[in-house]
Amino acid sequence: MLGYGVGLRRQHYSHVLETRPKVDWFEVISENFMVEGGRPLEVLEGVRANYPIVMHGVSMSIGSTDPLNRDYLRQLRDLAQRFEPAWISDHLCWTGVGGRNLHDLLPLPYTEEAIRHVVARIRDVQDMLERPILIENVSSYMAFADSTMTEWEFISAIANEADCGILLDINNIFVSAFNHRFDANDYLDAVPAERVVQYHLAGHSDHGTYLLDTHDHPVRDEVWTLFERAARRFGAVSALVEWDDNIPEFAELADTADRANAIFDSLKNPDGDSLKKSAKPALSADHRS
Ligand SMILES: [Fe+2]
Repeated sequence: MLGYGVGLRRQHYSHVLETRPKVDWFEVISENFMVEGGRPLEVLEGVRANYPIVMHGVSMSIGSTDPLNRDYLRQLRDLAQRFEPAWISDHLCWTGVGGRNLHDLLPLPYTEEAIRHVVARIRDVQDMLERPILIENVSSYMAFADSTMTEWEFISAIANEADCGILLDINNIFVSAFNHRFDANDYLDAVPAERVVQYHLAGHSDHGTYLLDTHDHPVRDEVWTLFERAARRFGAVSALVEWDDNIPEFAELADTADRANAIFDSLKNPDGDSLKKSAKPALSADHRS
């Protein structure tokens, strides 16, 4: 349990390094630091000296039918060996096919065939990185006619069979629930609690007939309500605020992390104790057991 963190963004590098703001941890975008040297790595060294970090990627393309990019995975492993993140995460999606990168996090068909395909690839990645990974649910705007199960059945089966963790993006559940007209509570009720290692919180834009996961607004009240429900179901799990456009002053991000903390503080388990007391350990290193 790392506590309540903030996504590290370029606009806040100097502020974080110079003032060491009170925040529990940072999530960094792995690809921003997969470089030979220079300012990004200096920044990461400075941040890592004072905070726990988690490495969050956008390029693994775990669902693609293209071969895994072994150069990318080697760079990811090297970066992790140097900076020792608490864990590494990426998205349950595909970002390209046939050698073309679409630069988007695209949903998969929810089928047994896709489960087998993704599970084998996650196991391969975990062996190569020598650690378990977390997979994140993405927001989506279309669905495959071939799907034979719900998204929550799909991600739960993959996490169980690949023996990996889940990064549960509460905002993405809310966005997809609206876009596909399912009940977000059904999603939360079905995900295996022992697999949930981290939450994401973010803001989205409302386009009337659909919601778009833009990470450019404050977290909406309805998403906070869903977050509270997740907290009751899963207990205290490391939470992280993402903000990628119209990025505010760092203080607003820190306030959002504090609000997540306050929600956990206000919740009690049936014995009347704080949920934080039941915080569970992160994934075991022995992911191949
Ligand atoms: Fe996310």
